[in-house]
Amino acid sequence: TPIAAPDNISDCVTASSNLQNANDAVRGLACCPPVLSTDKPKDYVLPTNPVLRVRPAAQRATDEYIVKYKAAIQAMKNLPDEHPHSWKQQAKIHCAYCNGGYNQEQSGFPDIQLQIHNTWLFFPFHRWYLYFYERILGKLINDPTFALPYWNWDNPTGMVLPAMFETDGKRNPIFDPYRNATHLPPAIFEVGYNGTDSGATCIDQISANLSLMYKQMITNAPDTTTFFGGEFVAGDDPLNKEFNVAGSIEAGVHTAAHRWVGDPRMANSEDMGNFYSAGYDPLFYVHHANVDRMWKIWKDLGIKGHTEPTSTDWLDASYVFYDENEELVRVYNRDSVNMTAMGYDYERSEIPWLHSRS
Ligand code: C2O
Repeated sequence: TPIAAPDNISDCVTASSNLQNANDAVRGLACCPPVLSTDKPKDYVLPTNPVLRVRPAAQRATDEYIVKYKAAIQAMKNLPDEHPHSWKQQAKIHCAYCNGGYNQEQSGFPDIQLQIHNTWLFFPFHRWYLYFYERILGKLINDPTFALPYWNWDNPTGMVLPAMFETDGKRNPIFDPYRNATHLPPAIFEVGYNGTDSGATCIDQISANLSLMYKQMITNAPDTTTFFGGEFVAGDDPLNKEFNVAGSIEAGVHTAAHRWVGDPRMANSEDMGNFYSAGYDPLFYVHHANVDRMWKIWKDLGIKGHTEPTSTDWLDASYVFYDENEELVRVYNRDSVNMTAMGYDYERSEIPWLHSRS
């Protein structure tokens, strides 16, 4: 049976999993979404002929774009906390799905937690999460073409924290004080970061990054399971190690970026370094846009074996979100495989790691 988030979002409980120091969780562990009505979520139908949203590479974004993006985030931050579109509620989605807010009652296992990480749910869940987040931001600034930027960490031109996220002395809505202060530009991002700086020169770090990208995208991800992660179906317990099988990108560059950005002085490496707090940093969504882009690139390589899972346990797995109209909707993995139908794409960027086989 496929995993399904509960119809009754009011059954969500305070987060308790995956925290080093729950007592010092500065962002708070009350992660449940606001309940606006007792109606069940409706099955979401992708809009027909959607306006195409093209996500730009953050390092090449125009001033005009940056102004718009910041205005959208500011508008989100201006909403009352209890609004399902508010910056806090959007961040809490990640906490609820990843730190034990939900259980598997919908599929008959009320005593088992729901977890979308370290499983084959990782890519589709985050794709949907960004999909609605982007539509909400677009709606807030009245721009149906608005698209999130992506942090192009797989290209040397994008291997620093994108400049727009730094504090500029003025109020910058996409700045987050809970980041590792030693990893601001010009520090080069490390695709293989595991908690300690490599100390490599700029040139060496870039080439190490490119080889690791090749490894995680090609050598170590020859088939569905190695790329997407382990099967995870109703009744599987995420607290049991056996079910924690992350795909190559999730375990690799994805986690490395979370750790590299999170503030090591914080008890739970807030914000980016913990599931419960990651969504409070606007960079989270920009990081995940590139993770999502890796899914597209991996598939577009057209290599035999580079296909999405075909089992109904994956296709019919589902999550519940508030859409841009504050409507509670249920979305399925099966509707996440076609980016064109979802109405967005990525601005092209060179993929130099394709030549970095080692
Ligand atoms: Cu849901 Cu980058 O983690």
